[in-house]
Amino acid sequence: MRAPAHSTPTSPADDDSAQELLQRRDAILGGVARATELISQTSHWRDCAQKLLQITGEATGVSRVYIFEIRRNAERVVCAYQTFEWVAPGVSPQIDNPDLQGIPFEAAGFGRWLAAFERGEPIFGDIADFPPEEQPILEFQQILSLLVQPIRAGRHLWGMIGFDACARPQRWERVEIDALRIAAVAFGAAVQREEREAALQQMQRVEALGRMAGGVAHDFNNVLTVASGATEMLAGELGGRGVLDTSSQELIEALQQALAQGAGLTRRLLQFSRQRQGQPRDVEVFEALRAATPLLRQILGHEIALELRASPGTPTIHIDPVDLEQTILNLVVNARDAMPSDGKLSLEVDHFETAEDHVGPDGVPPGRWVRICVRDTGCGMSAEVSERIFEPFFTTKASDRGTGLGLSTVFAIVHGQGGRIAVSTSPGKGSEFRLYFPTTSGR
Ligand SMILES: Nc1ncnc2c1ncn2[C@@H]1O[C@H](COP(=O)(O)OP(=O)(O)O)[C@@H](O)[C@H]1O
Ligand SMILES: [Mg+2]
Repeated sequence: MRAPAHSTPTSPADDDSAQELLQRRDAILGGVARATELISQTSHWRDCAQKLLQITGEATGVSRVYIFEIRRNAERVVCAYQTFEWVAPGVSPQIDNPDLQGIPFEAAGFGRWLAAFERGEPIFGDIADFPPEEQPILEFQQILSLLVQPIRAGRHLWGMIGFDACARPQRWERVEIDALRIAAVAFGAAVQREEREAALQQMQRVEALGRMAGGVAHDFNNVLTVASGATEMLAGELGGRGVLDTSSQELIEALQQALAQGAGLTRRLLQFSRQRQGQPRDVEVFEALRAATPLLRQILGHEIALELRASPGTPTIHIDPVDLEQTILNLVVNARDAMPSDGKLSLEVDHFETAEDHVGPDGVPPGRWVRICVRDTGCGMSAEVSERIFEPFFTTKASDRGTGLGLSTVFAIVHGQGGRIAVSTSPGKGSEFRLYFPTTSGR
């Protein structure tokens, strides 16, 4: 006779562990509820990250909980960087372990993890059952078993949250894994909210500054026009009276030179502030770049090599050709300024499609994209500089060379187009700007 399933006899030991499991499950569900509530109430995810780790750490009874951010390093390799950690009493923290900063997934033997995260799936289990190439890094941290959930900000893989059991292996129940996934999803939503707000604020700042700069430049231009006219007249007057000697001639020339510089500056300000009433049309990017080559050559001079490449059949993008040219010019001028005379500038155009539910390169959302890569062999940038380059008026150049408006203009144009922009650079290693534009046929 078979016993009904619900009355299967259990030993007292099984009872105990079943009891324990139920308690842990309750604790985890309670912890996740508190964690998601906390996340939904804070406007800056950084402010709640530590508390989130503590709550979920205590609820799961693990030894260590941590957040890694996932991004590309200067060589464009996808790496994980530990940014937050909570440890149970008596467990050795790993937050200062330099080996956990910038782990390249593939090269470190964690390609399996990255692939799972990109599918939105967690990694969990006993380390002893993991592939051998993954074990050394994990065993070094005395981890016996773990659960790691991906964190997505919208559609792009932003990071991961992990739970390490070091005291004894921990078996993860499906419901626990799912509950912790909810916490990761809530956290990712908070990150995305903040990223969106930051991008919006940046756009608004650029717009506000543009309006202000436009107003000032307009008035200033009137002043310059009057001053230029008066200088002309003064020169004529002195000449007519035969009293234009060498020293007054030099003074007048200095005046005229300063006025010309002022006019150049106002022209750039006006260009920057131009309310974007462009005339967009379908543009073949490669053709547009080829047409601009003579101009680019002129900017670069003869010493710097220029390479232009495109993958065949690149679709069109819908943009004002003037805007596109302006964008490329600004990037090329910067590259020239950063390069020694024997430098090399490459412009590359290609296109690709990111399927629904997939993350494109540099986190572009699903759709069809044209990518323009502008790469130079120049001095590159430190992290402090590259973080600020899109700020209006941020420049590292002498005041007569840089206005700090080039890249904020590029930013405004690309984002106004529904596009994206990404940069890879490090000191001494050159820079690469990648611009993504949605194709005409779009999404
Ligand atoms: N290709 C590049 N290589 C090195 N640094 C760059 C490059 N492009 C931009 N930068 C840095 O970004 C800053 C801002 O650029 P931009 O907005 O064009 O203003 P500006 O060129 O007037 O300084 C530059 O001053 C420079 O420090
Ligand atoms: Mg510039």
